[in-house]
Amino acid sequence: MEVIILKNAEKVAATGARLVGELLRVRPAAVLGLATGGTQLALYRQLVERYRINKISFRQVSSFNLDEYLGIAADNPQSYRAYMDREFFDRIDIDKKNTYLPYCEEGQNPILVGPCYEQKIHDAGGIDLQIMGIGANGHIGFNEPSSSLGSRTRVKTLTRQTFKDNSRLFSETEFQPKLAITMGIATIMDARKILLLATGENKAGAVSKMVEGPVSAMCPASVL
Ligand code: PGA
Repeated sequence: MEVIILKNAEKVAATGARLVGELLRVRPAAVLGLATGGTQLALYRQLVERYRINKISFRQVSSFNLDEYLGIAADNPQSYRAYMDREFFDRIDIDKKNTYLPYCEEGQNPILVGPCYEQKIHDAGGIDLQIMGIGANGHIGFNEPSSSLGSRTRVKTLTRQTFKDNSRLFSETEFQPKLAITMGIATIMDARKILLLATGENKAGAVSKMVEGPVSAMCPASVL
């Protein structure tokens, strides 16, 4: 693991964008693992900018997102599909047919979504670079503390803290899901490279536990 400490969030995003650019130069058909959340917004802005000035193309890229809420439709603006379209996919040249999230269609058994998603990742040749953030409680994806380090894509219940952290994004009248389907920790660890971005003081404790603490299911990111 290499820890890169930078002056501010903009530099973190720029470094992330540079690393993605370097991968796409040598592997234009790379498989990216993507994430949602506040931290990633600056990264997507930088990547969109690089695409606009012709520095980078996503035409041959396929992508797998870490997680998706269970119980809200893909066209609900709060879904992670909507976030990805709005913040990234609709602004670049990626073929949206090749962008995947662990979404449970209406009427589908959510328990079956996980194994299907794992198979799709496998069929795509595995993830070259997984980009992600970290929760204030050390979660990665929605793998909350106590998640098995050997876990695979499955349904998870959000902890109270994560639910509260995310409540800022929902209005009082909006339904806020308590369930999500997330890649497991073992799924994430299968990626050939992982880039975790963390910014802001509220992440300092989780980052310290991840980097300096023991490997423990109580801090899922410590597996890195
Ligand atoms: P954030 O989320 O970027 O919105 O802080 C990160 C995460 O919960 O993994």
